[in-house]
Amino acid sequence: MPAAPMPALQFPAGFLRGPATSAHQVEGNNTRNQWWRFEQQPGAIWHGDRSGLACDWWNHAEVDFDLMERMGHSAHRMSLEWSRIEPEPGRFDSAAIERYRALLDGLRRRNIRPMVTLHHFTNPLWLEQAGGWENPAAIVRFQQYVRYAVRTLGDLCNQWVTLNEPLVYVVQGWVRGIWPPQKTHLLAALRVFRHLLQAHGVAYQTLHANSPGAPVGYALPVRVFQPSNPKRWLDRKAANLKRYLVEHLWVTGAADGKLRFPLGLDEYQHSLADSADFIGINFYTRDLVRFHPDPRQLFGEEHFSPDGEYSDRGRRGVYSEYAPQALHQIVREVNAFHKPIYITENGLPDHDDDQRPRWLLGHLHALHQAIQQGCDVRGYYHWTLTDNFEWSEGWGLRFGRVELDPATQLRRPRPSAALYSAIARTNAISETLVQTYAPELHPILFPTAAPQQQNVRKR
Ligand code: FCB
Repeated sequence: MPAAPMPALQFPAGFLRGPATSAHQVEGNNTRNQWWRFEQQPGAIWHGDRSGLACDWWNHAEVDFDLMERMGHSAHRMSLEWSRIEPEPGRFDSAAIERYRALLDGLRRRNIRPMVTLHHFTNPLWLEQAGGWENPAAIVRFQQYVRYAVRTLGDLCNQWVTLNEPLVYVVQGWVRGIWPPQKTHLLAALRVFRHLLQAHGVAYQTLHANSPGAPVGYALPVRVFQPSNPKRWLDRKAANLKRYLVEHLWVTGAADGKLRFPLGLDEYQHSLADSADFIGINFYTRDLVRFHPDPRQLFGEEHFSPDGEYSDRGRRGVYSEYAPQALHQIVREVNAFHKPIYITENGLPDHDDDQRPRWLLGHLHALHQAIQQGCDVRGYYHWTLTDNFEWSEGWGLRFGRVELDPATQLRRPRPSAALYSAIARTNAISETLVQTYAPELHPILFPTAAPQQQNVRKR
């Protein structure tokens, strides 16, 4: 007789699930920001790709909203394009706001709760021409845009993310120099990072003043750096330094209001203190760190475990390593700040979808465990729904549960689309789903159940 199915891994009632996106990667024709300009440079983007129409959301986002609704999604994290809303300094475009109002309203009518990011890597060209984020004036400029956005959209959005992955923006643009403005200048990098942290605090206060009930947070890039050789003192120091710079400086600054070294000398910023109502975690991989004397690598060379399982390879090699236990670890660490936690991004590039179902299940299981252990995780935003324009990787990396041909805009769901949809609808991971999509995970997710051989789909 077949064993009775085990009870499903149930998530708390109201747990939010949906995709994460960003404006430049999906809207198309964002011609007035620095990324569009960067894309025109030969060699800037892998295979010479351009964002072009992207996923054509500026015209037809509703196509994907319908998909989200059919997939039982309850939430969506999206971003606003500053250069559309404020195409020239101080001139705000009401037509752009009308389109964003239609998008937010469209989500709400489908019972999908929007979480809106105000800065996701792109700046208006006019801001760049004025020195971008190296210039402290950007903080005031950002505040004015945020004020306008919350006043015109605040009735349709009640959850905000100020900045997406500030440190990734800084490292790619000013340390590695592979994203605009393509600099390798450590002091400028620190100045930009300091301005971004200050801008977060100011934006937090502005959002609260104009929409008091709406929670505000940030989306932190987390890679859970671990020493390559834990016995080697230099590797341990290098890994700790990265954790300090990438995670600690920001999270503690936004908690106690202090600009720590090397951003400052512990100056207290009133607007920054207690400036997160929730903490957003963007998690894709963990990294091993081996000491390296090069300051441009922040004294640590990052690499993946030689016996790890890898996603598709990007322009510069392996993109991510399967490490759901690192997500579990970081959620437990962040929980010590006693703020609600959202996974604001998680996913992998996997064009043939032969890993995505397993990675999805593995990461959701890690979250489920953390929740069982008392962590306050409120939602999971998967990167992403449809293939999109992946910054300097162009269209070369495919993160979508739905395959997109950018030339024809035709969409074709991959197998993981049905899996995530089933989890979203039931708010649970059932044994049958695991047997169907990733039977090799069965002993991990349902350790006390007898293995069931029926229903195992050949992959
Ligand atoms: C994150 C970015 C997001 C997307 C994913 C794959 O670092 O926030 O825009 O490109 O990586």
